Amino acid sequence: MTTTVENKATLSFSDGTPSLEMPIYTGTIGPDVIDIRKLYASTGKFTYDPGFMSTAACNSSITYIDGDKGELLYRGYPIEQLAVNCDFLETCYLLLNSELPNAAEKASFVSLVTNHTMVHEQMQFFFRGFRRDAHPMSVLVGTVGALSSFYHDSLDISDPHHREVSAIRLIAKLPTLVAMAYKYSVGQPFVYPRNELSYSANFMNMMFATPCADYKVNEVLVRALDRILILHADHEQNASTSTVRLAGSSGANPFACIAAGIACLWGPAHGGANEAALSMLEEIGSVDNIGEFIKQVKDKNSGVKLMGFGHRVYKNYDPRATLMRETCYEVLEALGLQNDRLFKLAMALEKIALEDEYFVSRKLYPNVDFYSGIVQRALGIPVSLFTGIFALARTVGWIAQWKEMISDPEQKIGRPRQLFVGPTRRDVPPMSRRG
Ligand code: CMC
Repeated sequence: MTTTVENKATLSFSDGTPSLEMPIYTGTIGPDVIDIRKLYASTGKFTYDPGFMSTAACNSSITYIDGDKGELLYRGYPIEQLAVNCDFLETCYLLLNSELPNAAEKASFVSLVTNHTMVHEQMQFFFRGFRRDAHPMSVLVGTVGALSSFYHDSLDISDPHHREVSAIRLIAKLPTLVAMAYKYSVGQPFVYPRNELSYSANFMNMMFATPCADYKVNEVLVRALDRILILHADHEQNASTSTVRLAGSSGANPFACIAAGIACLWGPAHGGANEAALSMLEEIGSVDNIGEFIKQVKDKNSGVKLMGFGHRVYKNYDPRATLMRETCYEVLEALGLQNDRLFKLAMALEKIALEDEYFVSRKLYPNVDFYSGIVQRALGIPVSLFTGIFALARTVGWIAQWKEMISDPEQKIGRPRQLFVGPTRRDVPPMSRRG
């Protein structure tokens, strides 16, 4: 919870508006915030902050990022420790319930999630309505939103039990839906979930088993997928999470809110970055073309960016990138792919960019997506499904943030203001006098 500190902020104006004193709150860590809620009522003025560069839209106790230190904490625990000591479902439990589970709590949570992995049999008809070449994110926006039509018994957002059941359903069913989106795109039969497998192994099985051949679980690959899921599970108030909160602030049901988050995640500046990073590597093609490509990136008029580099919050390094880089080496070694063409190209590009003055002076470092694309490709996941895997991982973060928002007594419908710069009032001319 926030506490007020002794300090106050005083805002003075040069246009004669009386100055305003505003309380300052301090959290457990991170920058203090100035409470500007009375600003409009007291002065008739709004604040202007496109992109929310300086605006905290809520208080939260889930995830903390220190972008300068390159630190990411889920409920206080460093991502480096969680990635090594916990699996994805323990991480989900932590994000949802504030504490890590003990052995009994873990067993009961795993069983709960496992028993919700099947989707309503009629869901397959939604898939069959899509073109085979539909982007999986378009399929996921549609099918996750459609879950609201199947689970009426968990849609009352004022009932904590309903919220809990929806959370479990979403975490349990997303892998099934992502795998179904893949199977549909390649024209193979859907594979039902298998309760005896772990969360990540079950996903790999639904992706790669067929009625003609079992999928042989490879522990290195399953661990790599589990790590991808842990690293992407939450990231405080990013664009898609804020979208989920904003959608939820109107009282929309959780399935609809998560569908909104998936839509936002699809963009190349957010979740689409690992897909964009891999497409970029394909486009560069060979180490010989890196110089020319970097030249284009530096040319502001080219519109070309080095995908998988830079971050709105991490201005030093992305701690997830270090862990994903490690996993990348592990997976490529396990599969004997150390000489993979794109991997070698990525390593050469990383080296050049890390030494180049343009990137160094702007503090542009590889982010998690620079490596996660290479790992996913090695796991056999098609490029078009990368963002779908991100959505599957982030669902727990979205739902934890949504639950936190619903039970926050300070929560209000989200309604940003604007600086209007369009035409002032005018009359509609008859058709004959319109230019
Ligand atoms: N390549 C080339 N130049 C860049 C890049 C890049 N990837 N990222 C930032 N810059 C430049 C930018 O042009 C600007 O230069 P100048 O000061 O000369 O105008 C400077 O660096 C500061 O950039 P910015 O646009 O103000 O930074 P931002 O915080 O608004 O943008 C970003 C963050 C992630 C949108 C951006 O870095 C980017 O588009 N990166 C590539 C896409 C990407 O990898 N996104 C994944 C983010 S990690 C996954 C997630 O959390 O969703």
